[in-house]
Amino acid sequence: MSTEPLSPVAGKRIVLCVSGGIAAYKSIEVMRRLVDAGAHVSPVLTKGALNFVGKTTFSALGSEPVQMGLFDDNANPIPHTRLGQEADIVVVAPATARVISDYRTGRSADLLTATLIATAAPVVLAPAMHTEMWEHPAVEENLNVLADRGVVIVPAEEGRLAGGDIGKGRLAAPATIVRTIEAVAAGTQNSLAGQRVVVTAGGTREPMDAVRFLGNRSSGKQGYAIADEAAARGGDVVLISTVERDTPPGVQVVRVETAAEMSDAVREAMQTADVLVMAAAVADFRPAEAAPGKIKKAGGVPNVTLEATEDILANVGATRRPDQMIVGFAAETSDLRENAAGKLTRKGVDLMVANDVSAPEVGFGHDTNEVLILTAAGEEHAVPLASKAVIARAVLDHVVAAQAKTKSP
Ligand code: CTP
Repeated sequence: MSTEPLSPVAGKRIVLCVSGGIAAYKSIEVMRRLVDAGAHVSPVLTKGALNFVGKTTFSALGSEPVQMGLFDDNANPIPHTRLGQEADIVVVAPATARVISDYRTGRSADLLTATLIATAAPVVLAPAMHTEMWEHPAVEENLNVLADRGVVIVPAEEGRLAGGDIGKGRLAAPATIVRTIEAVAAGTQNSLAGQRVVVTAGGTREPMDAVRFLGNRSSGKQGYAIADEAAARGGDVVLISTVERDTPPGVQVVRVETAAEMSDAVREAMQTADVLVMAAAVADFRPAEAAPGKIKKAGGVPNVTLEATEDILANVGATRRPDQMIVGFAAETSDLRENAAGKLTRKGVDLMVANDVSAPEVGFGHDTNEVLILTAAGEEHAVPLASKAVIARAVLDHVVAAQAKTKSP
């Protein structure tokens, strides 16, 4: 049985506006994800969008039939007012240069732009266009003005565009757009804005010879989920990782392998970090010497001498600036609370996220986790079994809450 808390978009009314760009097909995926998460989605398409996608798909997958025109429905002569007033969030994906310009100037040219102008709800806008258009100063200026007005922009990405060109202007991935909508629904989209967040992920590998290493079962999923969520909250995120996974959008990845390399990368990153989340499983011991070639069987069973690695978190805890927030993870198989509380004090961290890695569906390699978050002030918060994305949200909620406490007198 899953005890996963609801997505922040569950029960929310979302107007999904689709304008005429080749990326309109991706908005079908955005809609499906929102509906699956429990949102009520009203699709609004422009005439231009119909050049790329069909009405039927949106009507079938949405929570209500597609609407397009201001005067299509005799029973409802003012659809833009109803849509705008009832919406909790309005999303435009893809947003063409024309829609962006109309919205900026307040020109109500169709149901889509009329709805945007008629709403007081937060607006999430995901632009998509060819590189030349994306880089045009008018488009840039329009987007800056809209951002200043509080519109949440999901930046276009670099990649393959219509016609096979490669460049900036591609619509952000559906997962990125949905991640942003969820952050807006939760009211957390700017909660880490202007902050540098450093996250470590994966298990370190300590070489024994040219082909073998001492490792652990960490998949890096929890660290990646935290980096993803921190970026959705406006953080400037550096992810120090030992594993090869899809990089969350907007996140800078530093690849490392051993505890010593991770230590160097963390030390460097700490110079500018506001928050460190040490989700990696760092080896406590490594072979004292790594054979340069492959150790051959003919030589008999090798005697491997181990030596201790540096405790990265404890060192950071002892040397950090007081304004830096440090979060550790504790992987335990018994006495969860006591062991984690001991590590919190010993390592000098602000929050310790403890998980019982011997419990079913919890920790290493799984898509789910169940944690107990301990604070340096002695509070504890249990987060029941949930996806690693939900756990990431809970961890960062507590980071933000702890920051607010230290800032308020
Ligand atoms: N950690 C670290 N450097 C190490 C070992 C651990 O920075 N050499 C960090 C981990 O990233 C995690 C926290 O310390 O955030 C706790 O790690 P954990 O493995 O649970 O605890 P250990 O300190 O290794 O203690 P033990 O293995 O005895 O439980």
